Amino acid sequence: MNIDKILAELTLEEKASLCSGSDFWHTKTVERLDIPAVMVSDGPHGLRKNVDLAENPNQAIQAVCFPAACATACSFDRKLLETLGKAIGDECRHEELAVILGPGCNIKRSPLCGRNFEYFSEDPFLAGQMAASHIKGVQSKGVGSCIKHFAANNQETRRFSVSAEVDERTLREIYLAPFETVIKEAKPWTVMCSYNRINGVHSAQNKWLLTDVLRDEWGFGGLVMSDWGAVDDRVEGIKAGLDLEMPSSLGKNDKLIVEAVNKGELSEKELDKCVRRVLELIDKAAEGADPSTEWDKLKDHQLARKLAGECIVLLKNDDAVLPLDSRRKTAFIGLFAKEPRYQGGGSSHINSLTVDSALECVKEYAEVSYAQGYITSEDKTDEALLKEAVETAKAADTVVVFAGLPDSFESEGYDRTHMRMPECQLRLIDELCKVNENIIVVLHNGAPIELPFNDKVKGIVEAYLCGDGSGGAVCDVLYGKVNPSGKLAETFPKKLSDNPSYINFPGEGDTVKYQEGIFVGYRYYDKKEIEPLYPFGYGLSYTTFEYSDLRLSHTELDADKTLKVEVTVTNTGSVDGKEIVQLYVSDRESSVIRPVKELKGFEKVFLKAGESRKVVFILDSRAFAYYEPAVKDWHIEYGAFDIMIGASSRDIRLTDTVYVSSEKRLPVHFTLNSNLGDIRQFPEGRQLLEDVFRATNATGGFDDEDEAMRRMNEVMTNELPLRAIVSFSDDERLTRDYLQGIVDKINELLN
Ligand code: BGC
Repeated sequence: MNIDKILAELTLEEKASLCSGSDFWHTKTVERLDIPAVMVSDGPHGLRKNVDLAENPNQAIQAVCFPAACATACSFDRKLLETLGKAIGDECRHEELAVILGPGCNIKRSPLCGRNFEYFSEDPFLAGQMAASHIKGVQSKGVGSCIKHFAANNQETRRFSVSAEVDERTLREIYLAPFETVIKEAKPWTVMCSYNRINGVHSAQNKWLLTDVLRDEWGFGGLVMSDWGAVDDRVEGIKAGLDLEMPSSLGKNDKLIVEAVNKGELSEKELDKCVRRVLELIDKAAEGADPSTEWDKLKDHQLARKLAGECIVLLKNDDAVLPLDSRRKTAFIGLFAKEPRYQGGGSSHINSLTVDSALECVKEYAEVSYAQGYITSEDKTDEALLKEAVETAKAADTVVVFAGLPDSFESEGYDRTHMRMPECQLRLIDELCKVNENIIVVLHNGAPIELPFNDKVKGIVEAYLCGDGSGGAVCDVLYGKVNPSGKLAETFPKKLSDNPSYINFPGEGDTVKYQEGIFVGYRYYDKKEIEPLYPFGYGLSYTTFEYSDLRLSHTELDADKTLKVEVTVTNTGSVDGKEIVQLYVSDRESSVIRPVKELKGFEKVFLKAGESRKVVFILDSRAFAYYEPAVKDWHIEYGAFDIMIGASSRDIRLTDTVYVSSEKRLPVHFTLNSNLGDIRQFPEGRQLLEDVFRATNATGGFDDEDEAMRRMNEVMTNELPLRAIVSFSDDERLTRDYLQGIVDKINELLN
């Protein structure tokens, strides 16, 4: 496609028409110039391709539901996400889709967000890495991804209108960071802007977001589309860099674009930029579509089962109650054993060709008894089902209860209001604990829940929403065919009110203030020394791992160099297994408020029983930096940083220290109102002040012979503004003008 030529030939009306969809899923055609339409489709963990739009816009083709992001993030496995992405990429090729909508890499600010199951983590590093790997996989097949929802879309309540009030440092370090990683590392074809406003401005017309940051700073070269119905002012959107409005506005906004150009309110050049990017997408997509690409749905379903096994997190395993012994009498209790809750509601909902239930798949391992135990249509105990379950449990050696959140408890479109499981399920678990001491709970849920039975049961398996192969995957883990290796990508607090967003979620009216700032997830629980129920990065295995030989390539590091970190991990148990090794960086001393530690590296390693392996991390300057709004850039403060290697955020096994120095100093601008302490921080400032005090016989606390007095004077005067020392001496020279001269000199010396 010769885009320059086409741009020159398109009429204004045709250009405007290309800036919005023709229907729910297609771009527009311009037949006169042979410009075809391309189709986009949800995503992200399987295809939700609608075929019969007119008849039934919600009916999608039969497809495969892979584990949702809440689960895949627990794999901490970049390769797994890439494999998943590749499979979906092939499916898209087969179905001639240009772009699959997703993944979403919004941060889990609150466990209550109804869409958390579609997001990866509370940690921006993990979220960015997982999303980037997914996208690399999809796009390796010549199909585009659409990273969403850009940005600060962390709740469903009032999602079209709410304004996320977030300071810039928090945005950069927490909420934008995963998108930045994705844009730079995976180069997605497209970005979907979010519904919400950020600090008052709709994302769909936020020039700072869509152009200054996304394109100019991060170098994004693809297309930005709106979330479905996110557009407020289409003309402002064009100016801000929103290329494609989805779905169709039935031509209404196209007319407004034409009018704006005709009135001189929008330049055709600005419009051309958007049109060019739409044409580039259409052009790119032509290569990806290939209906001859094989899509063996049953094979992909088997892959979904395999991937799910790698994501499941073993939270508790007292007395090695797991893996199960096929010879012992086991009962499966709970409707989810028969009808697993394996995916979330809303735009990511897949029409699965086939769904594995644990009750069916367990036949590969053993014969089990079964009782339904509860209903999900309402939160009410069915006494007959309860009684039957108790009898079934009495007759078994071990009981596996399949529990969690029914569909009605969490979905796109609304947030939860509490973190509790249905009362009827809690009562069931309680009653079962009374008659059997070997209770294991398998959980299906998209986000953290309170676990009041935590101390009563012997085993807990967090299976999240693990796709249509989840029933088989759960059995593989229960019977030890798969050694569990997932670790939590989010904190499970003991109670909702422990969560940092608790006071400000979901906000007041159309405003939600992110007052916890950068202290999201474990960053908060660490800082406040709050013991979580299960911490970020936590998960058990059927084997054990030991960590040794932590080595850093430098003890002193120039910030523009990289640091190599090596550590040896050994499988000290008797079965093969995978360990997720986590690297956290902690700034020991800082003039700005920083988290206790932050995840800056992770690797998943497979180790045979008894095997050791060296794990290597490379850290660049970003691993030590914080975002400094004063210079609108990342900044490193000179000093000691701890490199912590852990099996979870609360299980740090090895620590070493590196001293990082940076050439870059923050610009300083002192005035007469600057305090002495701030000026004295700099050797040059300190010297000048000493000179002034001496020359004018003022008492500045520098000269006292007694060390204690000298120190006290210094500490006390540190708080004083410079202007106050005018009255420290009767020397006539000590005037405000004189001090202004000194301030100017200090500023000159320091900048
Ligand atoms: C969701 C998007 C989705 C789109 C299309 C919107 O409501 O927020 O994530 O891709 O619908 O279904």
